[in-house]
Amino acid sequence: KEKRLAVIPVIDSTNQYLLERMDSLQSGDACVAEYQQAGRGRRGRQWFSPFGSNLYLSLYWRLDQGPMAAMGLSLVIGIVIAEVLQSLGAKDVRVKWPNDLYLNDRKLAGILVELTGKTGDAAQLVIGAGINLAMRSPDAGIVNQGWINLQEAGVNVDRNTLTAHLINNMRESLPIFEREGLAPFIDRWSELDNFINRPVKLLIGDKEIPGIARGIDQQGGLILEQDGVRKSWVGGEISLRPQ
Ligand code: ATP
Ligand code: BTN
Repeated sequence: KEKRLAVIPVIDSTNQYLLERMDSLQSGDACVAEYQQAGRGRRGRQWFSPFGSNLYLSLYWRLDQGPMAAMGLSLVIGIVIAEVLQSLGAKDVRVKWPNDLYLNDRKLAGILVELTGKTGDAAQLVIGAGINLAMRSPDAGIVNQGWINLQEAGVNVDRNTLTAHLINNMRESLPIFEREGLAPFIDRWSELDNFINRPVKLLIGDKEIPGIARGIDQQGGLILEQDGVRKSWVGGEISLRPQ
């Protein structure tokens, strides 16, 4: 059966749009919007989604391995987006664990994977990506960290071309992840990792944990080195920052 792409002018959230229609979707169905009235990030944060100048994309996927595999999957999506952007001329795009894309040490794009399903059952996933293409600074009230768009970095990509490449690459890469897990992606992540071998801190609630970032482990956990000892960190409540 043919896969579908919905192109929507104005929506609350492209993730929400697919979440509400999951039962009639098949893996690979996607939607994009011009404008999101309630674009969202992790932990209920807002994703600034002004009209016309950015990409807001969501893709539905059914994951037979169940919800536990979703963590690795969001890393795969980061790799896919980074490699597509690089192939279209944005050579300095990097990934930041667990769900962001960075350019010149600033946030270029974010990934939000939302899911339903119990451990042991297949999971229904909505994979959302917001990529800043030409957002102007007055548009954005983004306060707590630096952000960037592709235009500012001198990269002009055609939004339709980008959308097509992203959807095709996700549809190709997700079955590889389902068959082989993260293994084929670990080295690609290391190549793209914005913070590898750099001093960083992990923010967990009001705790700050300093160390040196050493990439990801086989499960997709972040490896942090402290006093020569390496330990993996997992969990949705962790934010990585430069030291
Ligand atoms: P983490 O580093 O753990 O991913 P985060 O601070 O990036 O945490 P997220 O919930 O992943 O938080 O992303 C939402 C945050 O991204 C917002 O709080 C805001 O600071 C920032 N943000 C919102 N809209 C945009 C945008 N269009 N471009 C870049 N950054 C944005
Ligand atoms: C983050 O960095 O926290 C993730 C941001 C994800 C934003 C995208 S834009 C398309 C999709 N729809 C949403 O409401 N959020 C995601």
